[in-house]
Amino acid sequence: MSQSSENNRVIIFDTTMRDGEQSPGASMNLPEKLRIAEVLEGMGVDVIEAGFAISSPGDFEAINEIAKIVKNSVVCSLARTGVEDIERAAEALRPAAQKRIHTFIATSPIHMKYKLQMEPEQVHEATVAAVTLARRFTDDVEWSCEDGTRSDPAFLYRLIESAIKAGARTINIPDTVGYTLPEEYTRLITNIRNSVPNIDKARLSTHCHNDLGLAVANSLAAVKAGARQVECTINGLGERAGNAAMEEVVMALKTRHDLLPYHTRIKSEHIMRASRLVSAVTGFVVQPNKAIVGANAFAHEAGIHQDGVLKHASTYEIMRPESVGLVSSNLVMGKHSGRHAFRVKVKELGYELGKNAIEDAFRRFKDLADKKKEIFEEDLIALVDDAVLRRNDRIKFVSLQVVCGSQGPQTADMELEVDGVPKQAKSTGDGPVDATFKAIKQTFPHEGRLQLFQVHAVTGGTDAQAEVTVRIEENGRTVNGQGADTDTLVASARAYVNALNKLLVKREKREPAAMSA
Ligand code: KIV
Ligand code: ZN
Repeated sequence: MSQSSENNRVIIFDTTMRDGEQSPGASMNLPEKLRIAEVLEGMGVDVIEAGFAISSPGDFEAINEIAKIVKNSVVCSLARTGVEDIERAAEALRPAAQKRIHTFIATSPIHMKYKLQMEPEQVHEATVAAVTLARRFTDDVEWSCEDGTRSDPAFLYRLIESAIKAGARTINIPDTVGYTLPEEYTRLITNIRNSVPNIDKARLSTHCHNDLGLAVANSLAAVKAGARQVECTINGLGERAGNAAMEEVVMALKTRHDLLPYHTRIKSEHIMRASRLVSAVTGFVVQPNKAIVGANAFAHEAGIHQDGVLKHASTYEIMRPESVGLVSSNLVMGKHSGRHAFRVKVKELGYELGKNAIEDAFRRFKDLADKKKEIFEEDLIALVDDAVLRRNDRIKFVSLQVVCGSQGPQTADMELEVDGVPKQAKSTGDGPVDATFKAIKQTFPHEGRLQLFQVHAVTGGTDAQAEVTVRIEENGRTVNGQGADTDTLVASARAYVNALNKLLVKREKREPAAMSA
């Protein structure tokens, strides 16, 4: 790669599993995080922020396990400036082929006074000490000035210079509260570049929140001003209004290369898969008109638009749907497809499944093919994700019979297997879903409260699979369960059972609610 091309490369730093997971209700368990990490690595993400090691045992374990499997992306843990934070991050990252410690401290007057109760001088000392300590574990250290956009610029210049002197290779300027505007952020980044004498020894990074809907615009403004790392999340997941959406940043750089002559390593055709996975795992539905990944992002409804697109796609399409991985519902397999073809197709879709998981997925595929004439890629992805994510479930769905309709009462007859032991129950309820969930509660008593029940069709048509997400909360622990089936009630039962399995894991680990940054 030529020097000018390398100078224009923008590092994509994904924080879906750290900042994204900090959104209330967006918790992810270990198998889900491992799957997301594989997908992020496969799509060419440069840095994967896998968690905040000290915040909970679950975060520590996730970073540690991700560090073992990811080879082509840098794996990163967040840490405050304390010794214990940094040592914990280093410990979690120990197996990583490429590791980064990302240490941060708040620098705005408001945060220093009310949150940290520290004087600016103490923040300066903590910065230098943290970066110095982090460098003992890795050469790749990032330092962030939390609430940077509301900090005193002169103070920031001094901190940045010291952080670089102490060994930070990346300097991140977060717009923590989503307050800045593109021109203002451009000015800040430009002034940092002009005022910090050793700034050429580090890469500048942007980290924008979306409170005013400007996270992507601000990130792009920062890139134009000289930042060469963008911190972002899939689907813009994140605290409050979220973080800058990776898919929007990547496609803006790609589509407007004429005015934004920068490039990333992201294989944009993987975008839809990542978006669907993160949405299914968290239960955060992507709004239909969301840029790039919304269901309507490439749909042309108006007659004039349809006519134009049929004559020439570029009349109304600035990007090709294929460029983000939107396959026009490829019919892939049917009732007669065999095990070998199934295995090959699953591999083509980017999954490496063990023998048991492939057998389980194949069995589910055959069941599905009996109910649904045409099986599309989306169906396979839903089915395989389902098989991957419930590999270690202790409670297994066996069968469900429901009586429903306008003449009540609605009843559900449920069979589950708990640790290999069959359990049955019958219940009535206010509607078939209520009856189903009550029957599950009888077979497996628990205190969890239902917080979310959401249904989404995987493809078009009345025989489409329903993908259901259920969120349950028990003693401050929140879990999301997913289930897919052509029968919405079976999908609902599977989703509920999946959520209970996750709750069991949290109970066994006595996992406390995680601390956030
Ligand atoms: O928004 C923020 O300031 C952060 C930092 C921890 C980087 O997420
Ligand atoms: Zn953030």
